[in-house]
Amino acid sequence: MPEESPSSIMLRLVQGAWATQALHVAAALGLADELRDRAATSRELAEATGAHADSLHRLLRYLVTLGVLEGDDTGGFRLTPVGELLRTDVPGSQRERAIAYGTWNYQAFGGLSHTIRTGQTAFDHVFGMPAYDYLARHPDEARSFDRQMQREEAFFAKVPEVYDFSGANTIVDVAGGNGGLLGTILAATPAARGILFDTEHVIAAARDGLRERGLLDRCELAGGNFLESVPSGGDVYVLSRILHNWDDVRCQTLLTNCYKAMEAGAALLILEYLIPDAGVDERVRAYALALDVNMMALSGGRERTWEDFRSLLATAGFELLPRRHPLPSNMTLLMARRQ
Ligand SMILES: C[S@@+](CC[C@H](N)C(=O)[O-])C[C@H]1O[C@@H](n2cnc3c(N)ncnc32)[C@H](O)[C@@H]1O
Repeated sequence: MPEESPSSIMLRLVQGAWATQALHVAAALGLADELRDRAATSRELAEATGAHADSLHRLLRYLVTLGVLEGDDTGGFRLTPVGELLRTDVPGSQRERAIAYGTWNYQAFGGLSHTIRTGQTAFDHVFGMPAYDYLARHPDEARSFDRQMQREEAFFAKVPEVYDFSGANTIVDVAGGNGGLLGTILAATPAARGILFDTEHVIAAARDGLRERGLLDRCELAGGNFLESVPSGGDVYVLSRILHNWDDVRCQTLLTNCYKAMEAGAALLILEYLIPDAGVDERVRAYALALDVNMMALSGGRERTWEDFRSLLATAGFELLPRRHPLPSNMTLLMARRQ
C-alpha cells in the first residue's frame, strides 16, 4: 500500500470530531446491539431504533469507512470485530466511552483553547462547575460513566497477584469508589480487614456490593473528603485512579493527609497509567499523552511519568520504590513507603 501523504494524514486528523460523533450516535442508538448475530439493512435498523432511514443509511456507510461496520444495503450491514466493542454485552465494551466522548467530554473539549491560553480547566469553563459536580446532577450520565469505570476494572484481579497483602492487618482504599478493588483484595487476603473511604453518597452505594460478596463484616465504610483528612490505622493505603484527576497542589494535599494518617513504614500503593519514557513503549506513551490532555480539559488533572510521581510523593514525605508492576489495561502499580 502506498504511504499516506501528509495532506491525507492531516485531513484524517482534523476530521477526528466527525468520527467521535458518528461513534457516539451509533452507541446511543444501540446499533451494535441491534446487529448482534445478524446483518440488517438501514431501513430495518431505522425501524428498530426510530431513526430517519436515509440519514441513518449515510451514517452506516461512513461507519463502514471507519472499519466499525462492513457490508451494505444489499446484503445488510454487519459488525466488524471493532464494531463488536460498541455492544453492551461484550467484555471490553467501549459503548459507554463512546457516549461520554460524544457528549459531556466532547463539549468540555470545546473549551480546550481556553485551557491552553489560561491554564484553567475547560470543563469548568464550559459547564460552570467541576466534572464531579456535573455528574452528581446528571444521574444518567453518571451511571453511564460508572459502567465504563467498571468495565475497566479487569486489572483489579491482578492486584493481589503482584502485591503480597498477606502481612497486612488493615487496608485503606482511599476514594475506593464502589469497593470493587478493596473487595478483590479482601477476598484474596482472608486475615485482613478493610476501610473503604469515599464521599458519603458513593460509600452508601458501595455497601450492597460488599454485602453480596460476604465482605461487609470485614470492611468499615467511611465517608469524607480526602482533601480534609483520611482514615488512620491502616498499614497499607491504596490510591487507584485518583491522582491523575488532580493537579500537583491538590495531590500534595491528599498525599499529606495520607501521610498524617499513616504510621512510619506503612505502604502506599498507587494504581495509575504511567507515561512511559520516550522510546520505551510508543503505543502506550501515545495513549497516556492523549489521556493527559483529556485530564487537563476535564478536571485539571494530569498523567505522570515515574519521575513525576517520585518528586510529587517526595513533597509529602513518601519514598517511591523503583519497581513498577504492569497490570492489564495499561495500568501500573507503584509502591511508596511513608518515611
Ligand atoms: C475515578 S474514581 C476511582 C474509584 C476507584 N478508586 C477505582 O479505581 O475504581 C474517583 C473516586 O474519587 C472519589 N472522590 C472524588 N473527590 C473526592 C474527595 N474529595 N474525597 C473523597 N473521595 C473523592 C469519587 O467519589 C470517585 O469514587
